Amino acid sequence: MTYPLRKPGQATLSDHRAAHRPFASHKVDFAAAAVLERSPGIPKLSVRDVSLSYATNSGPRLTALKNINLQVQPGEFLCVVGPSGCGKSTLLHLIAGLHQQTSGEVLVDNAPVQGPGTDRILIFQELGLFPWLTVAQNVEFGMRMKGVSKSDRQARVRDYLRLVHLQQFSDSYTHQLSGGMRQRVALARALATEPDVLLMDEPFAALDAQTRDMLHDELERIWAETGRTIIFVTHNVREAVRLGDRIVLLTFRPGQVKREYEVDLQRPRHLEDVRVAGKAREILDDLREEINKSLEEEYGLEANA
Ligand SMILES: Nc1ncnc2c1ncn2[C@@H]1O[C@H](COP(=O)(O)OP(=O)(O)OP(=O)(O)O)[C@@H](O)[C@H]1O
Ligand SMILES: [Mg+2]
Repeated sequence: MTYPLRKPGQATLSDHRAAHRPFASHKVDFAAAAVLERSPGIPKLSVRDVSLSYATNSGPRLTALKNINLQVQPGEFLCVVGPSGCGKSTLLHLIAGLHQQTSGEVLVDNAPVQGPGTDRILIFQELGLFPWLTVAQNVEFGMRMKGVSKSDRQARVRDYLRLVHLQQFSDSYTHQLSGGMRQRVALARALATEPDVLLMDEPFAALDAQTRDMLHDELERIWAETGRTIIFVTHNVREAVRLGDRIVLLTFRPGQVKREYEVDLQRPRHLEDVRVAGKAREILDDLREEINKSLEEEYGLEANA
């Protein structure tokens, strides 16, 4: 399988990191990876002055997102954090073409998003795997929908299951797998459709800490190997610092970009790394302000009810 590889000047995956990945079968040399072909000046994704409001049962419309401006470069790993209800999922749905903005525009490769497309794929916390299909059939499913030929499908099932280290489970059913393995099947299924942009909505939130650690390593490796653009929503600021090139913090409702943070820490990073913790603390201070606003509003509404 050949990928457009990425990222000049990044750290070589160290033995230290490999030791933390018990099932790692090979090392990723970030430094040796070829430079991702970028179209200079053309971002992969642009969100321009986007607002979105929802109709509510109680009367006035609810403004979920307000004047969001965001640019994501090809091959970038962007994390989005913010208090519950600030519009993170709404933003991903917009980019996926599942919602329509009230004003503003969303562009992918400079073309307006006009609905779902095979260039973007959304991975939810609820994985949506089919229990009546085997692992291989689940991975194949998205490609069938996309009209990929049978021989290509078979080759890609093999390649992508190998990428997530599940080739020996291809004939298992999903109930025979652990939560982390199911998450990897969902990742393989999404990657097998070969989207340019992966939209991940708290994909690891329900997993135990060890499995999440392992999947961080896996996702980072796959991202480095495939050059995909990733937009990753999480509640967990450390997770965002562990994974992201850049982090966007949204305000409490209506969601607006409060601040952006560059994460220029060398990869591979580890959740427990003091540099990761230090960066996370900086972001957490800003996030807490927004969480406090959300609590004030929610407790205030309860008190007035
Ligand atoms: N389909 C909908 N109809 C009406 N309101 C909606 C709809 N979907 C979301 N909302 C509202 O929009 C706001 C943003 O919701 P969204 O799910 O995007 O938040 P979030 O940041 O993903 O929250 P969480 O962190 O809890 O997942 C919330 O106030 C929510 O109630
Ligand atoms: Mg959400």
